[in-house]
Amino acid sequence: DWTASNFIEEKVKEIKEQVGNAKVICGLSGGVDSAVAATLVHKAIGDQLTCIFVNHGFLRQGEAEQVRKTFKEQFDMNLVYVDASERFINLLAGVTEPEEKRKRIGNEFVRIFEEEAAKIGDARYLVQGTLYSDVIESGTKEAAKIKTHHNVGGLPEDMEFELIEPLRNLFKDEVRAIGKALGLPDEIVWRQPFPGPGLAIRIIGEVTRENLEILRKADAIVNQEIRAAGLNKDIWQSFAILPANLRSVGVMGDERTYAYPIVIRAVKSEDAMTADWVRLPYEVLERISTRITNEVEHVNRVVYDITSKPPATIEWE
Ligand code: XMP
Repeated sequence: DWTASNFIEEKVKEIKEQVGNAKVICGLSGGVDSAVAATLVHKAIGDQLTCIFVNHGFLRQGEAEQVRKTFKEQFDMNLVYVDASERFINLLAGVTEPEEKRKRIGNEFVRIFEEEAAKIGDARYLVQGTLYSDVIESGTKEAAKIKTHHNVGGLPEDMEFELIEPLRNLFKDEVRAIGKALGLPDEIVWRQPFPGPGLAIRIIGEVTRENLEILRKADAIVNQEIRAAGLNKDIWQSFAILPANLRSVGVMGDERTYAYPIVIRAVKSEDAMTADWVRLPYEVLERISTRITNEVEHVNRVVYDITSKPPATIEWE
């Protein structure tokens, strides 16, 4: 019978045997997959593992702090934290084309990761939180063409690591069960999937510090309200999008405003290949709308995306 504890026991044994005394590195992204993979490997080989967490500056509110707190304080792992936000925001100056954003972020990410890995020296293995669905989606040429996903197959071919991918045969719900059994906090276990390029591909148009701040605030409100309504665990992804190339007319007090809209997106899905838009209760939508227009500067309108995948994708870029 498949149980989380059987799986953990078996994988720990397998990883120990595979690795021996060698050094291992792992990239943490803030997401549940890499977190579970790292924790599993840490359970097997302890200090032989070093995690590298590159903060590209496009994470959600509080995410970077949460990752550091969990892995450094709770698990006492070797953790290299790199705040590279400045490098990434500069890299995207003037860039509006979605695939160009992805390419620049992906390349820079790999470059920084390699630099840090080289500092650790003689590591022989690399842990990746690849899931079954990643394997399938990257495996089909058509899907790969739609969007280049930088967490699978994006690493350069001359990297001399052998891969450890303990979650390769698992679905998301199984990964969550294992994360819980390993003692990861709910905020990480129930974290929704998040694209590698992060908020940068949820800003339509140019990514600037100001735009990031607007989107981050709006996104935090969406997730607070979804959680407060007890809907978090039933939803695959819920988030805000900022079409920074679009403004519309509004009114505030006696003043005419000309400001950005925020788009809300919430979908149900099994594996991200197809998705249904969620029939969110009107009261939840209302609270989100009121809070965003009250609390987030430069936003005067909130709209809800009622498109499923296909024909839309989950993300807007
Ligand atoms: P789409 O928008 O294609 O997204 O329906 C499917 C799933 O993949 C996530 N996504 C990404 N993940 N790097 C990633 O690691 C990316 O560049 C990327 N683009 C989309 C998306 O959030 C959804 O869960």
